[in-house]
Amino acid sequence: MFYTIVGTQWGDEGKGKIVDWLSSKADFVVRFQGGNNAGHTIKVDKNIYKLNLLPSGIIRNKKCIIGNGVVLDPWALTNEISNLRNQKININNNNLFIAENVCLILPIHKLIDEINEESRGNNLIGTTKKGIGPAYEDKVGRRAIRLCDLNDHLNLELKIKYLYDFHFPRLEKYNRSIDYNEAYEGLIKISNEILTYSAPVWKIINDAGKKNKFILFEGAQGSLLDIDFGTYPYVTSSNTSSGQIFSGTGFGIKENHSVLGITKAYTTRVGSGPFVTELDDEIGNHFVEKGQEFGTVTKRKRRCGWFDSVLVSQSISINGITDVVLTKLDVLDEMKEIKICTGYRDGEKIFNYLPFDQNIQEKLIPIYESLPGWQSSTFGTTNWNDLPKKAQEYIECLESKIGIKISIISTGPDRAHTIDRNNLLGYN
Ligand code: IMP
Repeated sequence: MFYTIVGTQWGDEGKGKIVDWLSSKADFVVRFQGGNNAGHTIKVDKNIYKLNLLPSGIIRNKKCIIGNGVVLDPWALTNEISNLRNQKININNNNLFIAENVCLILPIHKLIDEINEESRGNNLIGTTKKGIGPAYEDKVGRRAIRLCDLNDHLNLELKIKYLYDFHFPRLEKYNRSIDYNEAYEGLIKISNEILTYSAPVWKIINDAGKKNKFILFEGAQGSLLDIDFGTYPYVTSSNTSSGQIFSGTGFGIKENHSVLGITKAYTTRVGSGPFVTELDDEIGNHFVEKGQEFGTVTKRKRRCGWFDSVLVSQSISINGITDVVLTKLDVLDEMKEIKICTGYRDGEKIFNYLPFDQNIQEKLIPIYESLPGWQSSTFGTTNWNDLPKKAQEYIECLESKIGIKISIISTGPDRAHTIDRNNLLGYN
């Protein structure tokens, strides 16, 4: 059984709760893109665990894989492992496997991330400054340091020097400098520790696939931050869509694969970029306060707006989503009127998709359909029939717009706060 979990919006859709639930049943939990720009908070009983890089299944002692599609900050990794060990989480080379060909984030990448933002003036991307973009650039530029390079210290030094020299002119232009030795010596210190996790993960995962093990691919960020299909250039530097599971791990295409699209009942984004349904008013503030919309990694206040069925439909197609999980329904409880964006207008022209041209994106006016709010609490509801009639109508209206079933509705942070309409996760 294979499951992929992706966010259908700009990240922070509430993937953590569903990933955690499914990972408790999984044999393998796999990260296939991004890096420590992701932030997952997992609550198990009274304990709270913060994860950025490690697959969520590590909390439940599942076999966890970091695929080659990830960019790995080795110091962030060792810190995360040590913090989790302090919380009595068991991490060893029997439950953590890291692709030998994963590319590393070095200190220079964080510095370049900073310079890149500085050089954009008013057109900031608003990155997490974790060095993600520059590390992917070096991967594509064929000068990245990969995990397997730590086996050969002599060549490692030469490779790091080449990489640092390559970036020297730009650093000089921005009056910055960084010593390659810091990276080299730092890596030598931790190389033994991280090499213990190094493995041919493409092989492990395909062997598991042949035995029909339960493999959960854990997406980070959201589809609208995808480097190809997102709101470029205001995106992250990886493919966040489900297609990336194949090239980001080496897993071959197989049948029996469900793709769950996690979708918030309204829309949020952190960082810059177009956001057609953004609300700069009391309602937007209400979403921030009630939904506690502050970034887990950067603590920034998230921008909030109405549900955009155009974007979610687009994500459903691009990811091959089989079921939608609707989260944070209870944040809408007090609303008198609820709006759903069903299309965009640019002068006389109507769009039922988001065109890629940034100039057009910035001009688009949302076309809304309004529904009456239910103005009563849905918090913690576990049964569809216990939802207020108007909440049911809102969800059915969303389904008619996005053309796919909303199989799971999350009505609060706890596992129990879930309506599992088709017993897909076995919540009932
Ligand atoms: P980067 O991934 O640090 O390069 O940041 C690029 C864009 O993606 C910025 O707008 C970030 O705010 C956004 N971003 C990166 N990771 C996440 C995430 O996990 N959730 C939400 N937004 C993210």
